[in-house]
Amino acid sequence: MRVTVFSGAGMSADSGVPTFRDAETGLWAKTDPYEISSADGWRRHPERVFAWYLWRHHLMTVSPNAGHRAVAAWQDYADVDVVTQNVDNLHERAGSTKVHHLHGSIFEFHCDRCKSAFTGTLPAMPEPVETVDPPRCVCGGLIRPNVVWFGEQLPDDAWNNSVQAIENADLVVTVGTSAVVYPAAGLPEYAAAKGIPVIEVNPEPTPFSDQATACVRETAALALPTLLQRLPSLLPGITPA
Ligand code: APR
Repeated sequence: MRVTVFSGAGMSADSGVPTFRDAETGLWAKTDPYEISSADGWRRHPERVFAWYLWRHHLMTVSPNAGHRAVAAWQDYADVDVVTQNVDNLHERAGSTKVHHLHGSIFEFHCDRCKSAFTGTLPAMPEPVETVDPPRCVCGGLIRPNVVWFGEQLPDDAWNNSVQAIENADLVVTVGTSAVVYPAAGLPEYAAAKGIPVIEVNPEPTPFSDQATACVRETAALALPTLLQRLPSLLPGITPA
């Protein structure tokens, strides 16, 4: 069986990584996404954007949760691709080998002028602070995180590999995404339109829920360890090849 997991911030919530759009605890409840996560915001106040991403970089020392570990363990029974919107490396640290990062990685930094990869040491951040001056490249450019900001294009390789992973899937499982950020949110829709069974794992309904073949209103850490065993009851009459 070929399974493609499409994950969002909720996948890492059980590891202690805040999501974006939760009304109370979400990152965007406290910060304007277009100020802190856009090329325009970077141009206007790189020291604020850099500080925010440096804080998140240092936050990502948390551990994979039971959901990440379950997805990695599925590799023993199925051919598994992970298509993730997350910039953390928790899927890889749990043991997933085929992970496509649609929105980049918080562990890679590069020069915003000559694009060369940053190999220096990032500043420490014992406590979150409002501003940190980004390091400078030898070309004079500013060092920025290798994440996709609003208004920026997704990396071609990750996008093409993700589309292929959806097209080849016998089953798609979307986990912990609010399904509102495009073009990524178009991938589960594409799978549903192709008639591929799609299971949505999310404690809350999303704009995609009506297109899902089945919805599991549980957290990632609770739902995923037993999801494969529950397929016959979740997808009656649809036994992915
Ligand atoms: N398990 C599963 N799902 C959860 C959990 C959990 N423990 N906790 C929250 N969720 C769900 C929420 O109900 C919500 O629908 O995860 C979803 C998180 O949604 P968002 O915060 O909007 O995150 P995401 O969909 O990944 O955002 C997409 O937006 O801000 C940009 O680039 C950023 O990649 C991100 C993109």
